[in-house]
Amino acid sequence: MADARPEHVPVLVEPILRLLDPHPGQTVFDGTVGLGGHAAAILPRVLPGGQYIGVDLDDAMLAIARERLGPQDAGVLRLFKANYADFPVCLQEAGTEAVDLMLLDLGVNSAQLEDPSRGFSFERDGPLDMRFDRDAPETALDLVNRLSERELADLFYQFGQEGASRKIARKICEYRRNARIRSTSLLARAVEAAFTGSRGARRGRLHPATRVFQALRVAINHELDNLETFLAKAPDFLRPGGRLAVISFHSLEDGLVKRFLREMRSAGTFRELTKRPVVAAEEERRRNPRSRSAKLRVAERL
Ligand SMILES: C[S@@+](CC[C@H](N)C(=O)[O-])C[C@H]1O[C@@H](n2cnc3c(N)ncnc32)[C@H](O)[C@@H]1O
Repeated sequence: MADARPEHVPVLVEPILRLLDPHPGQTVFDGTVGLGGHAAAILPRVLPGGQYIGVDLDDAMLAIARERLGPQDAGVLRLFKANYADFPVCLQEAGTEAVDLMLLDLGVNSAQLEDPSRGFSFERDGPLDMRFDRDAPETALDLVNRLSERELADLFYQFGQEGASRKIARKICEYRRNARIRSTSLLARAVEAAFTGSRGARRGRLHPATRVFQALRVAINHELDNLETFLAKAPDFLRPGGRLAVISFHSLEDGLVKRFLREMRSAGTFRELTKRPVVAAEEERRRNPRSRSAKLRVAERL
C-alpha cells in the first residue's frame, strides 16, 4: 500500500551516523525530531539498552514521528512537545541527567513548507503564519502589520541578510496602507513590487522574497535565541566522550555554532570532529535539493 505520510527526506544521514557513531546503550537527545527521519536511522543503533528523547514544537510533526518510530519498549522512546532550548526539563521528565548524543537539524521541514495553511512558503498561497508552535501568541501576519517601516527593514537585514531591506520595507508599508497583508502571496507580491523596474531586477536564482520569508520565520520563532540558549546549556548535559551535532541551513545559524565550538575548543570543553562543516555529496544534492544549503558540525565533549 502507498505510504500517505508527508515526505521529509532527512539530510546528511550518512555523515551523521559516521560522526555521531551511535551505539547500543546510549541516550540520545534529538531537539528537532520533525518527522523522525534522523531518529529512524539513529534509534535502532542505540538498542538494546539505549533511549531516544525527541522534541519538536509542532504537534503535527510529533504525531507523525510517533507513528513512524513506535511502538517501542517502555522508556526507550520519549517524545515531547517542547522547545529544544528547554531541553533540561525534558531530560528530567525522561528520567536522565545527561546524554551521550545531541542532535539539532534546524529550520523548517518539507511537510511544514509544503502545507499552505502553515504559511512558510511564498510559493504556496496561505495565511501568513510561520509558527512552528501553533500555540505561540504571534504570527508572521501580526509582525508584518505591527512593525514600523524601520523595524521591518532592520529585521530583514538582521535575520535575512537582505541588502535591499529598506526598499522592501517601504513597499510593504505602501501595500498595507490599503489593507493588512494577510497572505503569503500578497507579501511575496509586495516584495516583488519593490524591485519592479529597478536595475539588476534580481539576484541569480533566488526568488526576491526568499530572504524576507527567512527573516520573518527566524524572528517569529526566535530561532537564533533558541540556538544560543541550547548551546550555552549543552556542555553541562553531555557526558564526557558524548557528541553534539548541529545541521544548519543559513550562515547566521552556522556562524553561531562555529563561534561556540571555537570558544569551547579554547576552553578545552569540546574537540571538533569536523574542522570544516560537512556538506552534502553531489549525489545527495541532486536527489534532495534541501540538502544543498545544509552544513553539519560535530564535536566531542572532553
Ligand atoms: C528540519 S526539521 C527536522 C527534521 C528531522 N530531523 C527529520 O529527519 O524528520 C526541523 C524541525 O524542528 C522543529 N523546531 C524548530 N525549532 C524548534 C525548537 N526551538 N524546538 C523544538 N523544535 C523545533 C520544527 O518544527 C521542525 O519540525
